Amino acid sequence: MPARHLLRDKDRKFRILFRANPQPMWVFDPQTLELLEANAAACALYGYSADEFRKLTLADIQGEEDARRFTSVLNGKASAWRHRTKSGRAIDVEIAVHRIQFGGKRVQLAVLMDITGRTQLEDQLRQAQKMEAVGMLAGGVAHDFNNLLTIITGYSQLILNSLGPHDPNRHSVEQIMKAGESAAALTRQLLSFSRRQVLQPKVIDLNGLVSRLSAMLRRLIGEDIDLRLELRPELGRVSADPGQLEQVIMNLVVNAREAMPQGGTLTVETANSYLDETYAAQHMQVKPGPYVLLAVSDNGAGMDAATQARLFEPFFTTKVVGKGTGLGLSTVFGIVKQSGGSVEVYSALGQGTSVKVYLPRLDQPVAMESGTAQKTAVCGTETILVVEDDEMVRSLVRETLERVGYQVLDVADPMAARGLSESHPGAIHLLIADVVMPRLSGPALAQELIGRRPALKVLYISGYTDSAVVNSGLLEREVAFLQKPFTPAALAEKVREVLEGDGKTKHAGE
Ligand SMILES: Nc1ncnc2c1ncn2[C@@H]1O[C@H](COP(=O)(O)OP(=O)(O)O)[C@@H](O)[C@H]1O
Ligand SMILES: [Mg+2]
Repeated sequence: MPARHLLRDKDRKFRILFRANPQPMWVFDPQTLELLEANAAACALYGYSADEFRKLTLADIQGEEDARRFTSVLNGKASAWRHRTKSGRAIDVEIAVHRIQFGGKRVQLAVLMDITGRTQLEDQLRQAQKMEAVGMLAGGVAHDFNNLLTIITGYSQLILNSLGPHDPNRHSVEQIMKAGESAAALTRQLLSFSRRQVLQPKVIDLNGLVSRLSAMLRRLIGEDIDLRLELRPELGRVSADPGQLEQVIMNLVVNAREAMPQGGTLTVETANSYLDETYAAQHMQVKPGPYVLLAVSDNGAGMDAATQARLFEPFFTTKVVGKGTGLGLSTVFGIVKQSGGSVEVYSALGQGTSVKVYLPRLDQPVAMESGTAQKTAVCGTETILVVEDDEMVRSLVRETLERVGYQVLDVADPMAARGLSESHPGAIHLLIADVVMPRLSGPALAQELIGRRPALKVLYISGYTDSAVVNSGLLEREVAFLQKPFTPAALAEKVREVLEGDGKTKHAGE
């Protein structure tokens, strides 16, 4: 074959390989950075027609500086770049460049791979790992603090009870109590961030919850902000802790208010929503399925990308000292995650922000609201078995209960409790046990003891259940539960309530 034919044939083959190739490719001139040709796959990726492509330079799709760097860095080796499509969307591409002859010129052929989805998932994974690590730390510290705070506030309360009304030490002890209570509030926030709080979920109608809160929300945001509720009818139910969900709404509303110092519109919206496979594929922590959406939107200051990347971190705040704690969104994050949901933030500087909370949708009817809890007397003479491995918490519980008349048996670990239950000749009316204990969990111990003593009632105490306990559903809805730190008064009241109940007690705070 004559040389000319050979060339033309090669050229023709190249065109076929190039044009019809499913891999996006373009050809550019390394001197002028002009784009000379793009194949159909590249046109589809960038949104430009082939003609439009030929009028562009590299700088148009990846910025002046990157374009210069691009030609010097690349030589057959693949590297990753961020490009802009015609519509302005950012895409991540991996590019390998090869020197070729094209139309008689020495040019470069770029072969691309769209890795936008991959880099997004990598970002999400990094983000999730970061939150996990921070959560572990925060949760660990908060858990130990809870035990200490139970002791500090508990003993302060006992001292206070023994002081006369005009005792000179009264004020000092009250200050200790107050500091202990603020510290307890802080650790509660950290526990909810780290998803180690004990949630007491109920079946909830979110529309009802928002409506009941609305008067309070209006007061919270003041007169310059217009509060709009858009509550879709026939909203599905969700399973969540109502108190915690109120906290979520409040935190989001407060943030929205603070983003609109000159006033604006704040919208709280609910809707049924379905997150499909495609959405789940792009959001690594979301399972596809039916959800209920709760969205809180404002048309305030908005956030830049740097803020958006960090806003769920505990203690991350852009507000002045004394105004922001940086715990609002981290608490929201923890509560929503622990309830099996997910949170998404859409925001643009100067435009406003929309925070979307998705909670798994149930198809159950709303449970009957429990009747009004009666105030009960706090004294008693029954026998109570206390199992708690923390020595100081255990003594506090014993002292508190003995002061109000109970017989108290106490042991440090569940194995000893088993033995004591066997050997104790008289009745044992109530078991008070930590949920998470070494060797045998509170619920497992309770089950064993109830086998021998069917009338035994049970009250759990805990700072948290770790995620394994929560996930395994160890604590069911109908158990009596007291969260650390608790005050002696709350303990005494709860004990009375459990002893007088039918075993299915209502939870505190409902
Ligand atoms: N609706 C919003 N509009 C603008 N920025 C927000 C909004 N919500 C949260 N942010 C940003 O996220 C940061 C963290 O929020 P948050 O965790 O509630 O802590 P705090 O409100 O105490 O600063 C805020 O400091 C702010 O920069
Ligand atoms: Mg806040």
